[in-house]
Amino acid sequence: MSISPAFLSANKLLVYLCLIVFCWKEDSATAESHQPQYHHTHAIHVASLLPSSVCTSAAAAAAAAQGWDQTSSLSVVHKHGACSQLQQEKANIPTHAEILLQDEARVKSIHSKLAKNLGLTNVKQTDTANLPAKDGSVVGSGNYIVTVGLGTPKKDLSLIFDTGSDITWAQCQPCVKFCYKQKDPIFSPSLSSTYSNVSCGSTACNALASATGNSLSCSSSACVYGIQYGDSSFSVGFFAKEKLTLTSRDVFGDFLFGCGQNNQGLFGGAAGLLGLGRDKLSLPSQTAVKYKKIFSYCLPSSSSSTGFLRFGNGGISKSVKFTTLSTIPQGESFYGINMIGISVGGKKLSISASVFAAGGAIIDSGTVITRLPPTAYSALRSAFRRQMKQYPMAQPLSILDTCYDFSKYSSVRIPRISFFFSRGVEVPINPMGILYVNGISQVCLAFAGNSDDSDVAIFGNTQQKTLEVVYDGARGRIGFGTGGCT
Ligand SMILES: *[C@@H]1O[C@H](CO)[C@@H](O)[C@H](O)[C@H]1NC(C)=O
Repeated sequence: MSISPAFLSANKLLVYLCLIVFCWKEDSATAESHQPQYHHTHAIHVASLLPSSVCTSAAAAAAAAQGWDQTSSLSVVHKHGACSQLQQEKANIPTHAEILLQDEARVKSIHSKLAKNLGLTNVKQTDTANLPAKDGSVVGSGNYIVTVGLGTPKKDLSLIFDTGSDITWAQCQPCVKFCYKQKDPIFSPSLSSTYSNVSCGSTACNALASATGNSLSCSSSACVYGIQYGDSSFSVGFFAKEKLTLTSRDVFGDFLFGCGQNNQGLFGGAAGLLGLGRDKLSLPSQTAVKYKKIFSYCLPSSSSSTGFLRFGNGGISKSVKFTTLSTIPQGESFYGINMIGISVGGKKLSISASVFAAGGAIIDSGTVITRLPPTAYSALRSAFRRQMKQYPMAQPLSILDTCYDFSKYSSVRIPRISFFFSRGVEVPINPMGILYVNGISQVCLAFAGNSDDSDVAIFGNTQQKTLEVVYDGARGRIGFGTGGCT
């Protein structure tokens, strides 16, 4: 009998949990439950809430590297963490309050895009200089990066991966207008033998309109793309074809990407962005023949460990449960999911189905904090506060209004939280996805409410931590498994 990778990783998770978690027994079962209450809480060492300054996953990274050839797996790290090679100066790392503010900007832009589908029509057609520039804006800082190879000979580039947008782009020499500072050398098309401009009027060029929300434009005969993100950061440049190397066995000759000549916003030192949305110019669509629009990832629980991004159906755990992938009207690039319920401390909240149905929901790797219909969020918050009332509360942190001061505790117990999706899929949230930690004297419930029940809900990346999340565009389903990574 062979031991499946799923079994190994579940086992690893168990060991990990035993290191950080007390699983003490409840003295008496509560009236509301037949099971002892410890089944319904996580006990957490307060010290374990703080990120390590050391990257702890050398072993995991090595394992991922070994698996490359079989499963087309890339290592995923948090942009600002100890495992990131971007190694920013401390002064450039945004504070948690800034990250949450940027997250709010991203969510606002998703909401306005879905409400009106105005797209980003204010990008001027031929004059890149007229793009709004705003220093200090970012694409939502709670983002994750992978390293891919571009060109011939291939150059390694660290890219932010984003399921909420389609175009892949990288900063390109000669940076006609502007390139921000990045860790890797800036990609130079003139040093690659496989680079070519996409010509104006070609099918690929015409496809830009739906992928970017902007009308296309031309510079002599070269096709020009422009993409602007919610927080007014943007990239503009030549739309081009180039060899993309994901792993040694996963090489794509004519990959369409943006060769960015004017890029602004602090993309955290990353070389650009990997677009994993659903439009036809996205990476999953361009590689559909090989991977059938299937990819999966695991976002690590802390910024000092690594997860993975995999393409194709290799390596998907047997325990992954699939819910329906839906399409949001006006937001065809987004991955829609049917959120139907939430439990706190083992008890389903009573929230009517119409509350979740009103605005629908998407899953997004780039949004940090899950946004819920306000009616659902207030039910979640009340239940959480009720079960946390033994702990002193702390000041709110930006959009997070339910915070605690754990400075007098060495361990705490927090209620378990699960999300429920259609087809009977329960997704238990990792403790590090329940709490957002701004130091042990301000540990917050990591969820927020939208301003209206009719706004789309967003299942964000904090809540996806350690989950194996499978996007299966061909079969129209999204899968979740626990213990995908630590
Ligand atoms: C791509 O197009 C731009 C703009 O016309 C031009 O400056 C550049 O040299 C072209 N690159 C190649 C490899 O043709």
